[in-house]
Amino acid sequence: MRIFEWNDAHAVHVPEVDDEHRQIFRLCDDLQRAMIAGAATAEMQSIVEDLVIHTAQHFSHEEREMRAARYPLYTWHWRQHHTARSRIKTLERRIRRGDRDAAIELLDFLSAWLTDHIRLADRMLGAFLRNHQRELSCSR
Ligand SMILES: [Fe+2]
Ligand SMILES: [Fe+2]
Repeated sequence: MRIFEWNDAHAVHVPEVDDEHRQIFRLCDDLQRAMIAGAATAEMQSIVEDLVIHTAQHFSHEEREMRAARYPLYTWHWRQHHTARSRIKTLERRIRRGDRDAAIELLDFLSAWLTDHIRLADRMLGAFLRNHQRELSCSR
């Protein structure tokens, strides 16, 4: 059993990004609970669908912010999103075909990937965005 609980160690201190991360953790937790409860495949698939949508929107949001602020580590960060996007898509396809093992693989993957990515890449981005915002408000 994985623990999907957002806590302060995951904070990147950009409120909208933290909210999106919280929502992704919540959906992972929902999926895990549904699996443990032996939920019907259709219920699991609908949570996975939500998870895929929220993750995709969240990655696009961060990528938009990076481009707008001319973030120098854009490619490095984007590549990490890209790896996750492809993995999630492959697993989602299997889940859609009714493969419950793929849902376990998805949770395993996300529990490690989310924590690693948020604690390093997203935190660095959060610090950069906050500084960028500060510079913008000073130059006004
Ligand atoms: Fe990110
Ligand atoms: Fe993120």
